[in-house]
Amino acid sequence: MKNRRILLASRPDGWPTDANFRLEETPVAKPADGQFLVRNHWLSLDPYMRGRMDAAKSYAKYVELGEVMTGGTVGEVVESRHPGFKAGEFVNGALGWQEFAVTDGTGMRKVDGSKAPLSYYLGVLGMPGVTARVGLLDLAQPKPGETVVVSAASGAVGSVVGQIAKIKGCRTVGIAGGGEKCRYVTAELGFDACVDHRAGRLYEDLQAAAPKGIDVVFENVGGPVLDTALRLMNPFGRITICGLISQYNATEPYGLKNLRSVLTNRLRMQGFIVSDRMELWPRALADLAEWVADRKIKYRETVAHGLENAPHAFLGMLRGENFGKQLVKLT
Ligand SMILES: NC(=O)c1ccc[n+]([C@@H]2O[C@H](COP(=O)([O-])OP(=O)(O)OC[C@H]3O[C@@H](n4cnc5c(N)ncnc54)[C@H](OP(=O)(O)O)[C@@H]3O)[C@@H](O)[C@H]2O)c1
Repeated sequence: MKNRRILLASRPDGWPTDANFRLEETPVAKPADGQFLVRNHWLSLDPYMRGRMDAAKSYAKYVELGEVMTGGTVGEVVESRHPGFKAGEFVNGALGWQEFAVTDGTGMRKVDGSKAPLSYYLGVLGMPGVTARVGLLDLAQPKPGETVVVSAASGAVGSVVGQIAKIKGCRTVGIAGGGEKCRYVTAELGFDACVDHRAGRLYEDLQAAAPKGIDVVFENVGGPVLDTALRLMNPFGRITICGLISQYNATEPYGLKNLRSVLTNRLRMQGFIVSDRMELWPRALADLAEWVADRKIKYRETVAHGLENAPHAFLGMLRGENFGKQLVKLT
């Protein structure tokens, strides 16, 4: 049996290209005592992977040249010499951009495909869903009636943030790219309003969508989107800096013009990384499972087929071509 895997071939300068990745075939490894072999069915594509392609200091170690690209996976145990995992069980972990992997079980959790589609454990019932729950409720702590703004609102994290804000009784405003995504965010997900950041009237449209000002921003994008929201903040507002995707391929960082709002409105702006807050995961996962089962949270996916299409799908996601959670089906 062959394992196909995608390696980081070179480091991008600005926007990545297909040439930064290399597909190779190797024999499938055999598990040793205390290990098991997993056949990956699903690979998650996430914006953080762009950061791992740069040899820069960050919160996590970068991918070395010639190493398998890092990534979350769901797969089936096909051979086990580990007392805690049996062949036929499904597991979620970070086994990378490859079809098979041997693991000692570190960081792996068992998942149940009869309770939810297996792919959900990479999205709403996995890291992106927990990010939404923790970043909104544990950090920003919105109160009923407050106005919550979330950017990249149709995406894996943003779509869940906005629906949780609605569950908590907030006025919820999304920011998304294009009319189709905005319609989905309001008509399907139930946000009160959505602003198209590509329409060229961001300040006017956001002001109209948040007539009482903004109390909470869940920021996924940064750059002009965050700068515009800063102009509309209410006193004692909270801003969770979850992601800054508009900056991940930028060769020059965007300089915020409206930082004065943090001072005059006595804002709290807090960055967070969801893997730092492992103690909050069990509660978040329990809430998310309940909301999905009760259909209070709706969820959408964009699926690429075949490992060889992962680079193309990843680059598309960075450009906003995904609609909901971006995945690759490997089997
Ligand atoms: N802090 C943490 O622990 C943590 C964990 C998970 C994710 N994150 C962050 O959360 C954010 C969302 O991640 P996700 O997995 O849910 O991705 P996603 O929203 O499903 O996909 C990325 C989206 O970003 C938007 N985007 C890209 N470039 C943009 C730009 N220049 N201006 C405005 N929007 C742009 C696009 O949506 P539009 O078409 O709507 O523009 C695109 O679809 C990312 O910044 C990610 O790094 C952080």
